[in-house]
Amino acid sequence: MEIKNVLICGGGMMGKNIAFVFASNPAYQIAVYDLYQTDVYGGIRTNTKQLVDHGVLTEADVEDRLSRIQFTTDIDSPLVSSADFVIEAVFEDMQIKRETFAKLEARCRPDTIFCTNSSVMSPSEISAELKHRERFVGTHFWNPGHLIPLVEVVKSDASSDEVAQTVMDVLASVGKEPVLCKKDVPGFIANRMQHALWREAISIVERGIADPETVDKAVRYAFGLRLPQLGPLTNSDMVGTQLTYNIHDYILKDLEDSHEPSPLLKQMLDEGKLGFKSGEGFMKWTPEQIAKENADLNEYLIRMLYGK
Ligand SMILES: NC(=O)c1ccc[n+]([C@@H]2O[C@H](COP(=O)([O-])OP(=O)(O)OC[C@H]3O[C@@H](n4cnc5c(N)ncnc54)[C@H](O)[C@@H]3O)[C@@H](O)[C@H]2O)c1
Repeated sequence: MEIKNVLICGGGMMGKNIAFVFASNPAYQIAVYDLYQTDVYGGIRTNTKQLVDHGVLTEADVEDRLSRIQFTTDIDSPLVSSADFVIEAVFEDMQIKRETFAKLEARCRPDTIFCTNSSVMSPSEISAELKHRERFVGTHFWNPGHLIPLVEVVKSDASSDEVAQTVMDVLASVGKEPVLCKKDVPGFIANRMQHALWREAISIVERGIADPETVDKAVRYAFGLRLPQLGPLTNSDMVGTQLTYNIHDYILKDLEDSHEPSPLLKQMLDEGKLGFKSGEGFMKWTPEQIAKENADLNEYLIRMLYGK
């Protein structure tokens, strides 16, 4: 099936960036539908300013992409009914997502591909009440969506192989690095690994083995540096299966394996230590430090991805 008309449903933080990503390929006409009037164009200009400042794109490039993005608050618009490919990025709420897809299904062709950008919700559950469930998959973009290359394509219990492959191809055609998650499991692929690490990191603090700053330093100056080049399974092959086996045989019994969020996390919540939001979480944060952490992350990503 030829994909030409791409609809982003929900023009919030993720939806804007996803629209910008799709506009990188002139083969696509992009529409953003949102319940509310929202400044998609201004938002994209703000989000992509660092790319312009670093010479990755010119202002003209950004404007050229914006010229291929249309916006509507009218669900009965032809921009909705003519969609070949939909990515939903509305609020993270099961009922809202289900209602949104029911409305889309009533208006779009039966073979229009439907994707949800839900961070954690099951694509099987979100699509449970649809008539044509085979055309539905998860597409989990990572924030910031215009920079992070990975998109997890998550098959539901009913997604067809053909649709999953088309979605992978379309994502590759806009410069993303799609990966296929063959089973609909909580956390898909990457968040399962990320939160296994966070669970151990929190446990190390909780057990008094090291303070929070030290935990982060141990990641940033050791295996964290290697990770963009060396995934854990290539690393295992590099050191050898025997060594990985011996290390696991020795240490796994001592690693954190709780099935509940840590009591320390709960205590922090109760004490109002909400992280950047309240100025204190595992560490204390001034407004200047918070602004710097946010800016530094994007600068780092642009350096890593574009060498600029
Ligand atoms: N923020 C992240 O880091 C992140 C990362 C990956 C995935 N996601 C997922 O992406 C989705 C969107 O997240 P976000 O951070 O962009 O949220 P957001 O609140 O910034 O944007 C949601 C947008 O959806 C619109 N909306 C709400 N209900 C709607 C409806 N019924 N029809 C049309 N539009 C509707 C809102 O007006 C808003 O503009 C969520 O499912 C979220 O879990 C978020």
